[in-house]
Amino acid sequence: MLEYFLLPDLKIDKELFSNKVKEQCESWGHFGTGRFKFYSGHPDDETLDYLDNTFKNAGDIVTKVLFNRVKANNIIGPHTDYGRGCTINIPICGDFANSSLDAYEWTKPISVMSPDQDLSVEEESRFFPHSEIEQQINYTTPICFDTRVPHGVTNQTKEDRFILGITFKDDLRVGHIKELYEKGELLI
Ligand SMILES: [Fe+2]
Repeated sequence: MLEYFLLPDLKIDKELFSNKVKEQCESWGHFGTGRFKFYSGHPDDETLDYLDNTFKNAGDIVTKVLFNRVKANNIIGPHTDYGRGCTINIPICGDFANSSLDAYEWTKPISVMSPDQDLSVEEESRFFPHSEIEQQINYTTPICFDTRVPHGVTNQTKEDRFILGITFKDDLRVGHIKELYEKGELLI
């Protein structure tokens, strides 16, 4: 089962980031194909500075920052993220009330290499085509979960869905991040 918690106290400037992703998303790399394609983009310096002023000790606990886009009416099937641990996904723009993070059961995975040259060859994800869906989570505030557990996205809406994903060090589990958040040690 996908363990997660919400972070309503984590707020970002949605207008700033909405404008940013709409300006930059055409240059992002992608995984998958057709309706199952998802787009991923690297952060600019302004975004990294913004996160330095949002998270305490960002330089020590954050290992990766990526923007993600799932287009309107698209679906991301069950997968685990390669090279990522726990993430906080921050909604930027889209119809989050009517789209979902999907939790899936574990089954035997298949490996798929990214055909996209913008992302390095190590950017391999694993897919779980045999997995049944367990839960659909509609989040409109930031959410923390472990990307090493099978998950996907259903964006059966008319709007593209953009998030900012903050990945934490491998040894930080969801429970650790929740503890930091609740003790006031995660956010500035
Ligand atoms: Fe993922």
